[in-house]
Amino acid sequence: MWDIDLTYREEFQDVFDRLLEKKEVLEKQRPLPAVALKKIRESLMIEWTYNSNSIEGNTLSLRETQMILQEGITIKGKSLREHFEAKNHESAINHLYTLVENTSHILLSSDILSLHGYILRSIEDEFAGRLRNGGVRIAGANFTPPNARKVSGLLDELIQFVQNNPLGLNDIELATVFHHKFVWIHPFFDGNGRTIRLAMNLLLMRKGFPPAIILKNDRKKYYDALNQANKGNYKKLMLVISQALERTLNIYIGALPGSDYEYTEISNLVEEESLPYGQEYLSLLARQGKIDAYKEGRNWLTTKKAIKDYIKSRKRKR
Ligand SMILES: Nc1ncnc2c1ncn2[C@@H]1O[C@H](COP(=O)(O)OP(=O)(O)OP(=O)(O)O)[C@@H](O)[C@H]1O
Ligand SMILES: [Mg+2]
Repeated sequence: MWDIDLTYREEFQDVFDRLLEKKEVLEKQRPLPAVALKKIRESLMIEWTYNSNSIEGNTLSLRETQMILQEGITIKGKSLREHFEAKNHESAINHLYTLVENTSHILLSSDILSLHGYILRSIEDEFAGRLRNGGVRIAGANFTPPNARKVSGLLDELIQFVQNNPLGLNDIELATVFHHKFVWIHPFFDGNGRTIRLAMNLLLMRKGFPPAIILKNDRKKYYDALNQANKGNYKKLMLVISQALERTLNIYIGALPGSDYEYTEISNLVEEESLPYGQEYLSLLARQGKIDAYKEGRNWLTTKKAIKDYIKSRKRKR
């Protein structure tokens, strides 16, 4: 169970280096300007809540989520449960920020249980913060989660694995493997996805990263990546999580005063610059994580520097 195929690594070295470099840029600027930090946290609160709940099936839009969280408005035609899910996720994130401050340990089982407690509060109180005591199935998954009798032991082993990191994984790899093994164990009757999308970020944030937010638009890719990880292939999940992380790193860096990271849509760059690649090819490189880029809505955004870096690295490899 804890043997992991690391053959994806070679291909990801550039991506990991780039993410670490961006984290360093942020770390050097800490503490970040309070006003900028507050604004980013508020907008991330809304999009994190919207995206994670929407992946789970909540039908509130981003705007509706914002109205509920920021203006305390209830949305006509939406169930009480959906409102609770939005409010609960907000409380869970606030709780997460307090957990992040406590860096005396990497991960405790109480961290996970308390996050889960917030997620199901007032919705399924009898299950909130409690491990399952019966079988579960995951729709569309290529496996059945382990028997309930094994859950507690497996979860302890997973936490040990994260704490001791016997394979010497970097922070991004560790968060990714943690995410996958957790949903594989499926410790709760419900709320596993929302809980691990928080707990994975607890690891990253304790290491100085911003949260990686998996977008609703990437749901299919994300589920497919989990299915591949079930078969032992972590490549796609590594990409999904790296890209999610890079997007928020870019948001933070972009908010720093005097930032020179200017992202534009690939189509604009192709028009303005004399580049050796067309839009299609650059989009492909972006999707594959081969250039520094992130997706906003339906468009990929990148920088001139990213493309120059790519051209340089190609020359080096030849
Ligand atoms: N094929 C799969 N293999 C492993 N895990 C999967 C697979 N498909 C989905 N999952 C995980 O299971 C989660 C669903 O579990 P559960 O319903 O308990 O969580 P939820 O928070 O209520 O919903 P969701 O996770 O959809 O937000 C998914 O979010 C995903 O992380
Ligand atoms: Mg569910």
